[in-house]
Amino acid sequence: MIEILTPAEVERGRASGAIVGHILDALKGRVSVGTNLLEIDRWAKEMIEAGGATSCYVDYAPSFGRGPFGHYICTAVNDAVLHGLPHDYTLADGDLLTLDLAVIKDGIAADAAISFVVGESASEADLALIDATVRALAAGIAAAGPGKKLGDISHAIGEVLSSSGYRVNTQFGGHGIGSTMHQDPHVANTGRPGRGYTLRPGLMLAVEPWVMADTDELTMDADGWTLRSATGGRTAHTEHTIAITESGAEILTLPPAG
Ligand code: MF3
Ligand code: CO
Repeated sequence: MIEILTPAEVERGRASGAIVGHILDALKGRVSVGTNLLEIDRWAKEMIEAGGATSCYVDYAPSFGRGPFGHYICTAVNDAVLHGLPHDYTLADGDLLTLDLAVIKDGIAADAAISFVVGESASEADLALIDATVRALAAGIAAAGPGKKLGDISHAIGEVLSSSGYRVNTQFGGHGIGSTMHQDPHVANTGRPGRGYTLRPGLMLAVEPWVMADTDELTMDADGWTLRSATGGRTAHTEHTIAITESGAEILTLPPAG
């Protein structure tokens, strides 16, 4: 079922989104060489609680993972890309880190992800990989609006990723979001313009282009959660929750201005 939210519900989505945007921004500022992934998880828990919100992850037990996630944020390093289970790993200079966070407050969820390089020695290739997901997300959001089709978003994302030289994996993508984190419709990261569900005001979507440098194949870690590139090549993932409005699409998970 596709959920269309009332203006009051979208307003609560703005509040949840602001918490997610703020936490990811604060974590990016706090993470450095020597930070342990389990510390990031603890900081995320504290900040979610300080915001009066609840984690969408800790008790989450979807079919694509093993039992409840048991943690508050996804931490994916280098070749790990999706559903990275926080574990005892200390970040090194040049590590490419993805943080993916979803919270729910007053009954409405918001979900976002950022990728960045830790420390001072980012490679050109890693920055290009991250930039492709940032540009794909911007293009996907620009293609969204009332009367547009889901395929318009997917096509815009896929064009940026493939014209940047990457192959697009179709196993995981974005999703509807609202009273729960994962809902219909699936927002594929490649598709045909003019096809699929017609976007309407009140629809909230998590749009999340992700990419692997040299493959479109994933493998799963023994932890039953973490998905990484089959080749060991680097990966990146950028996500925002948006709401379709009367005039376009509004990003709900931006960090606070200033
Ligand atoms: N937030 C992720 C997404 O973008 C889902 C994480 S599910 C978890 O859809 F269980 F791994 F936390
Ligand atoms: Co998501």
